[in-house]
Amino acid sequence: MSALIIGNWKSNGSKETNKLWIKDFFKHIKDDAESISAICPPYVYLNQIVDLCKRSNIKIGSQDIDFSQGARTGSISAKACKDLGCNFSIIGHSERREFFKEDNLDIRKKLICAQDNNLKIVMCIGEPIEVYDSGTTKEFLKKQLIDSIDGLDLFNDFTIAYEPIWAIGSGKLPSSEEINVIHLYIKDIVQSASKNNFTPKVIYGGSVSSKNAEDLFKEDHIDGALIGGASLNGKEFANIANIYINRGH
Ligand code: 13P
Repeated sequence: MSALIIGNWKSNGSKETNKLWIKDFFKHIKDDAESISAICPPYVYLNQIVDLCKRSNIKIGSQDIDFSQGARTGSISAKACKDLGCNFSIIGHSERREFFKEDNLDIRKKLICAQDNNLKIVMCIGEPIEVYDSGTTKEFLKKQLIDSIDGLDLFNDFTIAYEPIWAIGSGKLPSSEEINVIHLYIKDIVQSASKNNFTPKVIYGGSVSSKNAEDLFKEDHIDGALIGGASLNGKEFANIANIYINRGH
C-alpha cells in the first residue's frame, strides 16, 4: 500500500516535540488509517522517528534527495535515505524550486536516481497565483510534467502531489471540483508521456486540514493529501487520515 496521507514537517520539530507528536498520533489514529499515513521529518530526525515508529505501519519519507552522491558537500543521497529506513522521498517541492533554484531537469535527475535506488517518489508540481489567475494552469503543469518524466519508465507507486503554490500555508485553496479536474488531467498527461503508460496516484497539497478533508476526499481523483502546517499536530494529522479512510468510495 502506498502512502497517501503524508505529513511534510518541513524544517520543524525537535527531539522532545517529536516524541509528543508520536504519542498523540498513535493515540488517535485508526488501525486501517495507519498504513496509508506517512511523515517526512527533517533528515536529522529520521533515525529518531524510524526508531519510534518501528512497531507500527506508518511510513517514513525524506523531504528531498540529491540527484547524485559522493563529492556533493551538504547533500543527502537517495542511497542514504534508503539506508536510514525511508520508504519514499518527496522531490520537486515548490520551496525547493523557489529557495534552492531547482528546475524540472534537476527533478528529472532525482527521479531517475531514486528509481535506480529503489526509493519510491512523490513528485510535487503546482502553479503560482499569476498562472492560476490567467487560466493557464494546465499548460504550466504539463510543462513541469513533460520536462521531468517524458519517456521514462515509471514504477514503484510513483505519485504526484499537486500543490498550487498560492494554496500553501495561505488557508486558500481551489474548490475540490477544480482540483479533481486537474488531477484527472495530470493522470492523463503522465499516462501518455511515460514510456510504460503509467497512471499515478495524485494527491493534493495546500492548506489541507481536518475541516476541509471530507470535502476534498469525496472526489474520485483526489487520492490523498500532502499536508504541511496541519501535520505538525499528531492528533490533527491522525484525524485527517481517519477521515480519508471513512470517505465513501
Ligand atoms: P500547508 O499544508 O501548510 O499549506 O503546506 C502544504 C505543503 O507545502 C506540503 O508539502
